[in-house]
Amino acid sequence: MDLVIGGSGFIGTNIANRLKREGTAFSILDKKKPQAESEWINHDITNPIEPMENIDCIYHLAAEGTIRVCQENPQVCFDNNVLGTYNIAEFARKNEVKHIVFMSSYATYGNSNETSTEEFPLRARNHYSYSKIAGEAMFESYAHEYGIKVHAMRSAPVIGKHLIKGVTAHFYQKLKSNSEEIEIWGSGEQKRNYIWVEDLISAMHLTKQKQTEPYGFYNVGGADVVSALDILALLSKKLEANPKIIRDEKAGFKGDIAMQIVSSEKLQKMGWNETKNFNQYMNEYIDWLIESKFETLML
Ligand SMILES: NC(=O)c1ccc[n+]([C@@H]2O[C@H](COP(=O)([O-])OP(=O)(O)OC[C@H]3O[C@@H](n4cnc5c(N)ncnc54)[C@H](O)[C@@H]3O)[C@@H](O)[C@H]2O)c1
Repeated sequence: MDLVIGGSGFIGTNIANRLKREGTAFSILDKKKPQAESEWINHDITNPIEPMENIDCIYHLAAEGTIRVCQENPQVCFDNNVLGTYNIAEFARKNEVKHIVFMSSYATYGNSNETSTEEFPLRARNHYSYSKIAGEAMFESYAHEYGIKVHAMRSAPVIGKHLIKGVTAHFYQKLKSNSEEIEIWGSGEQKRNYIWVEDLISAMHLTKQKQTEPYGFYNVGGADVVSALDILALLSKKLEANPKIIRDEKAGFKGDIAMQIVSSEKLQKMGWNETKNFNQYMNEYIDWLIESKFETLML
């Protein structure tokens, strides 16, 4: 059986739905109630996890993922992302778990004008980044010490159904309340190579299948490099809005990552490819925001 830790959030809900479609047995461990239909272990990973038998694979997605929250509350970042990861590593060791898929992040490379391959040095640009780097280091050691296979996904920002935060959701919400004007933080030129959630999950499954070494780490990001302004343009077109853009150049925050693009070449050599481009997945996501009456999900 698989265990999806942090399975009540955005990526976890998509993994749970995918495992269900594929007929893989799983449970969700999370401190929040799952959105997907699943057995739920209601637990906070800042505490040790009770023993469980026959866990084949853990998807570790639970984290405080907001850079600014980590910045303002270093203890929250440490407890959830470092101590929580340690509790999962210890649970895996004691319960003979075979494989762990760890959601790391593109943020481990810090700011860079170059496209980061896996050979690039890791840079703790902010507390969130350091907590992911610490998680990767911990799992690498557990993999070598105890023979648990682990692989870390250094993922670009992810787009997909069930995503209720991030720049697109934020702009959507603002345009719904006022389609005449919109304030954006900074220049709006911050660039990312977003990834469609289903393609991320396919990458997780492929690497899990093909990994021979005890520990592996893989970038995953899309071919299209887009800015916040590109997202706003697509969203405005779809909502038939033409907002006046008001730039707050001083907004944004210390520790924000202005530019980070990850190369997926290593994954592509293993046979992975994106199934949707930026326009396709963004349109699908915006349709979901509209259909799911996203405004009420935020309440
Ligand atoms: N969403 C992205 O674009 C992105 C990109 C790169 C990496 N990641 C990483 O992927 C993972 C999942 O991201 P997401 O967007 O689905 O996040 P999310 O916030 O939607 O989901 C995280 C889930 O973890 C749970 N959780 C957090 N702390 C917990 C704790 N102490 N005990 C038990 N459960 C806890 C939350 O309740 C939530 O259900 C995170 O580790 C995040 O850092 C996300």
